[in-house]
Amino acid sequence: MVELTLPRNSKVNGKGKTHKADKQAVAKGHKPKWQTFKVYRYDPEDNENPRVDQYQIDVSNVSMVLDGLLKIKNEIDPSLTLRRSCREGVCGSCAMNINGANTLACTKGMDELGNGPVSVYPLPHQPVVKDLVTDLTKFYEQHASVQPYLQAKEADPEEEWKQSPEDREELDGLYECIMCASCSTACPSYWWNGDKGGEEEYLGPAALLQAHRWIKDSRDQMTNERLDELEDNFKLYRCHTIMNCTQVCPKGLNPAKAISEIKALMVNRPEK
Ligand code: SF4
Ligand code: FES
Repeated sequence: MVELTLPRNSKVNGKGKTHKADKQAVAKGHKPKWQTFKVYRYDPEDNENPRVDQYQIDVSNVSMVLDGLLKIKNEIDPSLTLRRSCREGVCGSCAMNINGANTLACTKGMDELGNGPVSVYPLPHQPVVKDLVTDLTKFYEQHASVQPYLQAKEADPEEEWKQSPEDREELDGLYECIMCASCSTACPSYWWNGDKGGEEEYLGPAALLQAHRWIKDSRDQMTNERLDELEDNFKLYRCHTIMNCTQVCPKGLNPAKAISEIKALMVNRPEK
């Protein structure tokens, strides 16, 4: 898994908080498995920003990193702020940076991380709202900019737009994206070119995967217009095939391949 270099100006808060109930269980003969979580903290209303807090918890009954974070939140420090909803890799809301790689906290097993400290940071290069929660407004705007819905020039059919099983299969690997933003926020080109504002900015792998999903849909009739929209110096061509997106995607998707296929379509389409 790719290691991301995270320029941080954090200091470690060495309190090493341990849950009282864990200590009591040990006193009663329970064999604990201690593990340290180093968690990035940022609070807009606090002066000590940013910092890293350390928590030592018994992980003998903790399966996933999200379970560990919720144990910290529920039993040691209720001020720890994070997003989560489904807890099973479907909603995308718990994406964060764990031991140097973007992923979903709810599907990242503790057994994948070894016995060392678990470092948890928010998704890189996004404005932090609080602790592990980032502001993804820009990310969602870029997603919306590719018009991720079916568009036709003909009048709607009486029943539905039909698609053959073969054409439907063409969308496999494209429609499953859960919009977690792990890929785009792992991409150095997106860090540099994704937030320029105005027309000239790189849309990033997640938005481009969506663009490709609709370009490839046999029912959509706006393929040329969609390609026109992407044809400038930034939106598509700032992808330099670094591949971090594909390495980190927790759903096993391949945004880098989708981007290269859009580039191929751009080159091979008939003269306008
Ligand atoms: S392509 Fe993968 S990493 Fe990127 S937003 Fe979709 S699910 Fe998340
Ligand atoms: S909580 Fe929904 S993907 Fe992790």
